[in-house]
Amino acid sequence: EKGGYEHFMLKEIFEQPKSVHDTMRGRLLVDEGIIKMAGIWDHLERFKNANRIIIIACGTSWHAGLIGEYLIEEYARIPVEVEYASEFRYRNPIITDKDVVIAISQSGETADTMAALKLAKEKGAFIYGICNVVDSSIARITDAGSYTHAGPEIGVASTKAFTAQLTILTLIAFKLGKHNGNLGNADFMSLIAELDAIPKRIEEVLNTTHEQIKEIAKDFVETTNFLYLGRGYNYPAALEGALKLKEISYIHAEGYPAAEMKHGPIALIDENMPIVIIAPKRGHYDKIVSNVQEIKARKGKIIAVVNKGDRQVSEMADYVIEIPETSECFSPIVASVPLQLLAYYIAVYRGANVDQPRNLAKSVTVE
Ligand code: F6R
Repeated sequence: EKGGYEHFMLKEIFEQPKSVHDTMRGRLLVDEGIIKMAGIWDHLERFKNANRIIIIACGTSWHAGLIGEYLIEEYARIPVEVEYASEFRYRNPIITDKDVVIAISQSGETADTMAALKLAKEKGAFIYGICNVVDSSIARITDAGSYTHAGPEIGVASTKAFTAQLTILTLIAFKLGKHNGNLGNADFMSLIAELDAIPKRIEEVLNTTHEQIKEIAKDFVETTNFLYLGRGYNYPAALEGALKLKEISYIHAEGYPAAEMKHGPIALIDENMPIVIIAPKRGHYDKIVSNVQEIKARKGKIIAVVNKGDRQVSEMADYVIEIPETSECFSPIVASVPLQLLAYYIAVYRGANVDQPRNLAKSVTVE
């Protein structure tokens, strides 16, 4: 049932061209120039008139939510807040019937997310679910929603559910932007054409980086700390890369917005500190170049995720992983794939049980 792969996690990483495609199928109609999502369409006025959108989730799904904030604010210009479900529910949050709450959950059973939603519902908010498990508790309590069609995710560390969540959030942002007039037709058409080709981009990344990452991972089996840095859309991608590594390899890893480095974490950098930096061409590239220079001056070991043909960052990096160039909003999807592989191989070489990491459960039904 692992389809010839050594672990479910690796199988699920490799399923991403298909799971992202399945998540768009029937929704993204490129030739017609339409995004079909009944859950949004039927409640368009709620979304259009929303004071703000509050995204609630935990863990990896929370990271997807952060990227959702960038997407929805950029393309639909609706203010978004992203909250850890566990914090939201215990701090007497201000919620009104003008708010739209989006819950993101792979399992649809996460207790904190469920409790936060009940609270939001009591206060009259409209609640929307992005779940992977059909008919799960969260899917049932929401007023409307869109399933991620990632298929069953067995590995405890979430991979294909995450990129499927990003796919849904992208569709929602583009659809809302189109209908509220913030995303013009020409831009909408070119963005959806690019989105439609993202499964192919993921396939390319898997084919071109897999063997290379197996080799890179060998150099970090004994490492005890990692930093992951990114800016803009790739800041949450850095958080997610770090979470994957700590969950399955038990190596301490932290994600930061690259510009925050100078406000503290730079003190950690020396020749023993590997730094994974996500540095695609579109998205504050010049600023990232200076961050890389600062790391280099302190002898940090740089693993750079860059676009094909990159020169400036690549020349300074110790390891270079190339991904295809995309519009900035799609880069977290393609950049996440090599980071999943890196975490996977480091964990495998350390002899860890990658599908069932210690102390973790696939769905967290305790509060
Ligand atoms: C990370 C991971 C957890 C979950 C979190 C939320 O790989 O598996 O951080 O993302 O427990 O779970 P769901 O999405 O099922 O609500």
